[in-house]
Amino acid sequence: MKETPFLHQLLKLKEENITSFHVPGHKNGKIFESLLYKNFKENLVHIDTTEIMGTDNLHQPMEVIKQAQERAKETFKSKETFFLVNGSTAGVYSMIMAVTNPGDKIIIGRNCHKSVFNATILGNLTPVYLNPSMDVERGLALGISPKEVEKTLMQHPDVRAVILTYPTYHGFTSDLKKIAEIVHSHGKILLVDEAHGAHLDLSEDLPMPALACGADAVVQSTHKTLPAFTQSSMLHVQGDRINLDKLRFMLQLHQSSSPSYILMASLDLAVTIYNEKGKELMKQLLENIRDFKQQLSKQKGIEVLDRNLVGKNYIKDMDPTKLWISMAAIGISGYELEKRLRTEFQIQVELSNLYGTLAITSIANKKQDFNKLYDALSSIAEEGKEEKIEELPSFAYTVPKQVYTPREALYKNKRSVTLEEGIGHISGEYLIPYPPGIPIVLPGERITEEMITYVQAMVKKGMEVVGLKDINCRTIEIID
Ligand SMILES: Cc1ncc(COP(=O)(O)O)c(C=O)c1O
Repeated sequence: MKETPFLHQLLKLKEENITSFHVPGHKNGKIFESLLYKNFKENLVHIDTTEIMGTDNLHQPMEVIKQAQERAKETFKSKETFFLVNGSTAGVYSMIMAVTNPGDKIIIGRNCHKSVFNATILGNLTPVYLNPSMDVERGLALGISPKEVEKTLMQHPDVRAVILTYPTYHGFTSDLKKIAEIVHSHGKILLVDEAHGAHLDLSEDLPMPALACGADAVVQSTHKTLPAFTQSSMLHVQGDRINLDKLRFMLQLHQSSSPSYILMASLDLAVTIYNEKGKELMKQLLENIRDFKQQLSKQKGIEVLDRNLVGKNYIKDMDPTKLWISMAAIGISGYELEKRLRTEFQIQVELSNLYGTLAITSIANKKQDFNKLYDALSSIAEEGKEEKIEELPSFAYTVPKQVYTPREALYKNKRSVTLEEGIGHISGEYLIPYPPGIPIVLPGERITEEMITYVQAMVKKGMEVVGLKDINCRTIEIID
């Protein structure tokens, strides 16, 4: 096995029998065993095929892929559903470029995923940003104000579309129904990145799905919250504001000409599981989460983010399947918590920041997973300290001055300087503290002293800042 270091490592991890509170949503394949879909598992190598007689063609579906997409369309209540094999990233590129022409303006939630900003480079678009409300103490992006959407649309009547993330990574939702009404009343198109919300229609106790709120096109990472393989996503469209021919062209532009049949089959199976067992499993999951939270509420020093933020900071609702757990009050950082859960208890969470850690649950998680997590958290909390962790450095996430669009910035000459020397210059790179994953500066925007002080404080605390070529975060590329 030494000749296959990568595969060897993955198989070694399998032996660790890690309890998964991270994506993908099938949770290390467990759902396929527990739901008796072993046939799929056992035949994986045999179904890896290509376009031959009887397998149809993703880019011009007429047979079985068409049937599978039509079934997905009924399940997710869309007018048209497209399977994606290059992740939601390809769906985001395609839907944005299907509704815009080069040179157009688009309104973007500043907490959108990098694929949205990259789409402005690919599509030669001018972004206009909407800032979400922020929880500075915990480093989380919250809701987006419908009034702010309206104001921005009035200031920029020439925009083509609005794109927002719904729900956020941590499960917060804005009032998307109201936002859809506003966007449509201005004659614009609403695109939604619902990468973290493919499961929302499985229960009334979850936030309303983006399609039900009135979005025109919605991308879902089926692989994140439902039992599909990594990279398997879907794009749903409704109404008649989207030009489907242009969208189909953009999809074949951004996706492989050799789409993986294993990924497409995993989407098909995810739809079956969703239809046959989804609601029942979601009911159990939500009960397990309620019990878990109830038990933890008796534990000193452990905070689990709950619905108490709903109704504030433009948060309309919250997805309870995302568990933001913090032991900051007893001096345990999110990073330490994540590391200890993994090394001492073989539990893997999704991500962390200084303040806390995010556990992503799905219909594949069982009661015993929650019991294991509860035992691990209680045991770690027993060793908690008297003092709180140091506060996160604070930063007002105001949108910096945009001198060049991201695409213009990409093609300018650049040079590398120290972070301090970069102050006052135009950035040639992204600077994204992770989490919350909101860029503090994008290529083409002016760097300020406040940004650099913040980034340096984050790096000093061991927090992750992505986007810079210099992985040590000491230098930044500026536009000459
Ligand atoms: C909000 C959001 N949108 C889009 C994406 C891209 O999705 P994918 O990994 O399916 O390409 C991600 C990935 O983490 C995400 O968090």
